Amino acid sequence: MASDSGPRMSLDKGNISVLLLEGVHDRAAEMFVADGYTQVMRHAKALPPDQLTDALASVHILGIRSRTQITEQILTTAPKLMAIGCFCIGTDQVDLAAARRRGIPVFNAPFSNTRSVAELVLAEIILLLRGIPHKNAATHRGEWIKSATGAREARGKTLGIIGYGHIGTQVGLLAEALGMQVVFYDIVTKLALGNATAVRSLEALLDVADIVTLHVPETPQTRWLIGRDQIAKMKPGTALINAARGTVVDLEAVAAALDSGHLAGVAIDVFPKEPQSNDERFESPLLRFDQAILTPHVGGSTLEAQQNIGGEVAEKMLRYSNNGSTLSAVNFPEVSLPEHIGKHRLLHIHRNQPGMLSQVNDVFSRHRVNVAAQYLQTDAEIGYVVIDVDPTDRGDTRTLQRELDGIAGTVRTRLLY
Ligand code: NAI
Repeated sequence: MASDSGPRMSLDKGNISVLLLEGVHDRAAEMFVADGYTQVMRHAKALPPDQLTDALASVHILGIRSRTQITEQILTTAPKLMAIGCFCIGTDQVDLAAARRRGIPVFNAPFSNTRSVAELVLAEIILLLRGIPHKNAATHRGEWIKSATGAREARGKTLGIIGYGHIGTQVGLLAEALGMQVVFYDIVTKLALGNATAVRSLEALLDVADIVTLHVPETPQTRWLIGRDQIAKMKPGTALINAARGTVVDLEAVAAALDSGHLAGVAIDVFPKEPQSNDERFESPLLRFDQAILTPHVGGSTLEAQQNIGGEVAEKMLRYSNNGSTLSAVNFPEVSLPEHIGKHRLLHIHRNQPGMLSQVNDVFSRHRVNVAAQYLQTDAEIGYVVIDVDPTDRGDTRTLQRELDGIAGTVRTRLLY
């Protein structure tokens, strides 16, 4: 029954309490307010656990970034919580399965910083081909290396992109604008943009590229994808860029190749072990190399990306709150719903067990209510059914909601007018 894990909800926007933590971008709060939500509370930092549990006692919509840990235990203190927005890329900080069991979809913004990463990579391509990292470091020390040796234009050089997804394709288009030849390798067949060419294997890419850039996710297959053997297959003088994930490149192998000169330079933004905070010291086998651009995982960190993330996650949560759509929720059956103008919409989240849908439909036939539209999506654990009915009066629809609540296995119901 719904009462064990969450209340029935059919609230006006003015009664829905939104809590945005960790300095989520202004745009998110502005969007909630512009949409008629008046209870929008904000904190610049993460809350300590005791304050978080106090605050969550009355919160319906929670926005966090990466520091707030939402464990199963924390969720038990949040009886009204109906949606969580991670205003970042990752969602590891939330116990997604526990949230799903409670009927709470979790949203994030996986692609809001795509352009930011692509632009940084483009800059690094130019800097590495010109040998600027080494010259910059030497000039800071008072040395003067006025020489064209090893300095090359990007025009006409071959860029090898490993992982031709959101970021890889953007990097390819920007590089072509510089006059580069673009080849890419992806495990999935991808439509080549511009004049880019797909190659059949990683080896084929390493064979031809003057500069190699990685844009793959972290998976068992991409773990240490680039190690000693792969670097040996690159042309002498190749430059390597990793702004994907720290476990994709073996940095000891990179250090050896920088020592031998086989790699001319590298730009690394992500590391197998990264400091947990700005106060912690950073260690890496690459610290001693002038020809290495080392950045503290800032590929996607721009003001524009923060703003985009604010807008993207707020929009997804607003759509869920106003309309029930769960499109791109990371832990929940995805339902994309049309507007329900002139209808009453009932949302029923239940444990995915046999006979559920017939019990739901039975409620409507018993009350002789015409179902105007029905949408259902399930995963192994949870079912999410949305029913639009022709409006009778609100009291009648609330009766239907109460009956849906009474069905064993119901996790949560909501009613949207
Ligand atoms: P995406 O999912 O759009 O693209 C990844 C591509 O890699 C897909 O086309 C996929 O088929 C391909 N792929 C997967 N396994 C592969 C393999 N073994 N070999 C070749 N291709 C493979 O991801 P997106 O958004 O382009 O991100 C790429 C990477 O960038 C991710 O690891 C992400 O974590 C990282 N990233 C880093 C940021 C930073 O601040 N440095 C910011 C944003 C993303």
